[in-house]
Amino acid sequence: MEKQSNGKPSGTTLFTRRKALGTLAVLAASLESVVPVKAGVQPARAAEFTENDPYGRIASGGLSPNDITQVYPGIWKIHFGGPSEAVTPLAFRTAGADRAAIGALPEVSAIPLDIAAMSWTVSARGVSLQMPMTTEEHIYGLGLDTEIFDMTGRRAICCPSDQPQDKMNYSHAPVPFYVSSRGYGVFVDTARYAWIYTGNVAPVADSSETASPAPAKAVLSARELYQPRTLTRKTMMIDVHPSRGVDIYIFGGPTLRAAVQRYNLFSGGGAVPPLWGLGVHFRSASQMPAEHILALAQRIRRERMPFTIWGLEPGWQSHTYPCSFVWNKKNFPNPDKFIQEMKGMHYHMNLWEHAFTSSVSPMFKKLKPWSGNYLVWGGLVPDFASPQTRKIWIDHHERIMFSKGVDGVKLDECDNQPYRAHPWSFPEASVFPSGLDGELMHSLFGALYQQTMMEPLTRRNLRTWGLVRDTYALAAPLPYMVYSDSYDLGCYLRGVCKQGFCGLLWDPEVRQASSVEDLYRRTQLVIFSPMAVVDCWYMNLPPWLQVNRAKSNAGQLMSDHQTVTQVVRKLLELRMSLIPYLYAAFNEYRLTGMPPIRAMVMDWPQDPKTRAIDDQFMFGPAIMVAPLLTGQSTRRVYLPHGTWYDFSTHQQYKGGRWLTISRPSEEVPMFVKSDTLLPLARPVEYITPETCFDVTVHVFGESPEPITLYEDDGMTYDFQKGKQNRIAITWAQGHGKVQKSGAYGGPVRYKITAFQQA
Ligand code: GAL
Repeated sequence: MEKQSNGKPSGTTLFTRRKALGTLAVLAASLESVVPVKAGVQPARAAEFTENDPYGRIASGGLSPNDITQVYPGIWKIHFGGPSEAVTPLAFRTAGADRAAIGALPEVSAIPLDIAAMSWTVSARGVSLQMPMTTEEHIYGLGLDTEIFDMTGRRAICCPSDQPQDKMNYSHAPVPFYVSSRGYGVFVDTARYAWIYTGNVAPVADSSETASPAPAKAVLSARELYQPRTLTRKTMMIDVHPSRGVDIYIFGGPTLRAAVQRYNLFSGGGAVPPLWGLGVHFRSASQMPAEHILALAQRIRRERMPFTIWGLEPGWQSHTYPCSFVWNKKNFPNPDKFIQEMKGMHYHMNLWEHAFTSSVSPMFKKLKPWSGNYLVWGGLVPDFASPQTRKIWIDHHERIMFSKGVDGVKLDECDNQPYRAHPWSFPEASVFPSGLDGELMHSLFGALYQQTMMEPLTRRNLRTWGLVRDTYALAAPLPYMVYSDSYDLGCYLRGVCKQGFCGLLWDPEVRQASSVEDLYRRTQLVIFSPMAVVDCWYMNLPPWLQVNRAKSNAGQLMSDHQTVTQVVRKLLELRMSLIPYLYAAFNEYRLTGMPPIRAMVMDWPQDPKTRAIDDQFMFGPAIMVAPLLTGQSTRRVYLPHGTWYDFSTHQQYKGGRWLTISRPSEEVPMFVKSDTLLPLARPVEYITPETCFDVTVHVFGESPEPITLYEDDGMTYDFQKGKQNRIAITWAQGHGKVQKSGAYGGPVRYKITAFQQA
């Protein structure tokens, strides 16, 4: 499963009804070399319980050399227990692994974990496995639970949910991949809701070491009673049920960041946005009719607010919960004309939808045999794992969206609500024509939906950049950002720090605000998101005209809206000036697997002070952002070793210490690492195929590292066939040099107009 030679994703692994599981088993096996089932382990059936086993285990054991295969440089597959299930994330991967890029990472010659200390058990519940951990080890990742940063010492359940503020690891992206501060990563290839115990369970075999002395005094508070115990030995335990066997993949580092890079390249490499995708995105009120949208879009252009993407929320459809996938003629009497007018104003169009299909939809009849056996909100649940469903879906969407020039989508409601008083979405016991059950489908639903919806654009050789509310493992090549209804700024920020641990892009957005200061602080986070979104789905006015939702819907402008508009414009322009730098970071994401936005611990894993930092992050190779939250006038920032510069004032700071900083509400604290060449563009208002950025290169430090900008058409996949230029920028002895190489011959993207020393 390598990438195709044209570099496009290798196409999705699909399978047909009835033959489904058989086909999948073959596909899964063909991915890499076949791993023999461990000798002595039979496919488990209840009858195989041995009378003699005191625990009622069906089978258990350690690993033999046959269980271990090196699949790529520094990546090992290990098989635990009986036969694995056929339906796994790998069987549905979006793209093949990038072997050449994996090979270019630092060499790791041996499995970074002690194989002799690994074991497994198969019981009637399923398979569980144990792997060694050290007591000082920290675990990160497992998706986008925005409450918890350091995942050590927890039971993390990889179950999709629409509530990412959760302590159980339920989230919009519950990914069974983690990395360790010891510099390795582990991916559990399962679409079951894996339960991952990150060093808080004690096997009986460790009993002598973990026996704690009797407490000196009586414990009289529940808090003390249940506080986490310090274990003298730690074990990672992974419980996958009801599977009888499971494959895991171990990714060598040698650093935490290199382990993540290896995982991202194994997933197919990071997605590269179209250039327009990095521009700012506005979403108008759900039921706003076309004529009002056009007027607002014109106003935004008049006010020079730099927006490139326009999103339509549910009101473009005639029915939405469930969806008809038919234009609402009352709001949009002439959709083609409307889209052309918006495009004439240089907006790229993004349309909202969710998958649950109404009986009034023209797709309903055709889809019925290719859907799950339970409805959601009265709508069919399409089986995106079957090619028939995908065909029906794509043909219809071609007609209503893509042939009209829609460039992207927002795929809503594809997560789940598993545990509130009124859960919604399809039950885990659902069955689908492809052979998936509801649990497997929940895990894979978002990823399959994304694959389906990018296909019509990929076929046109067009990149896309969209939004999705659920994703899963191996997601790096998927050009969709995960968003949420949750709106806590601190949790948004933690998600920004966490996204890089598991090949995901997370997207805080601005909606209403509790005050003007709150609006500024929220905007200051959004401009550092992979897609910068202002989402007015429940507000008539943009938040820079009115932050309050009720007043916005009553059409009342804030008295200071002109000042607020100016401040917000300046912040959005800051985003626009970072586009060449960010585009380069995304190209590196594809080529090296390096996440464009990262937690501090990823770049400084040896510095213990970075281990718990969940409120400042690296943006691209050299910028560190330390946002202030609403109500904060000061905060502590950690500057790792080296020299740092304040982005705005260029004041120098010595690193290796904490700093207390303050900033007015209009400003976001940003620092630049020394020895950096930072390209900053004169902000443009929107991005077109002809856009050329005027770039000034800011020189920080005496001997800055060279940087590369990537120049291509910004829209198609031709860059993967070599139609891309590299613009190498260097600085030596007080002079800057710019060298271009490559086979792209289209419109010039960057004019390097000046070098400026900080
Ligand atoms: C929500 C979604 C919002 C908005 C809304 C429209 O579920 O998260 O962003 O699109 O649906 O109904």
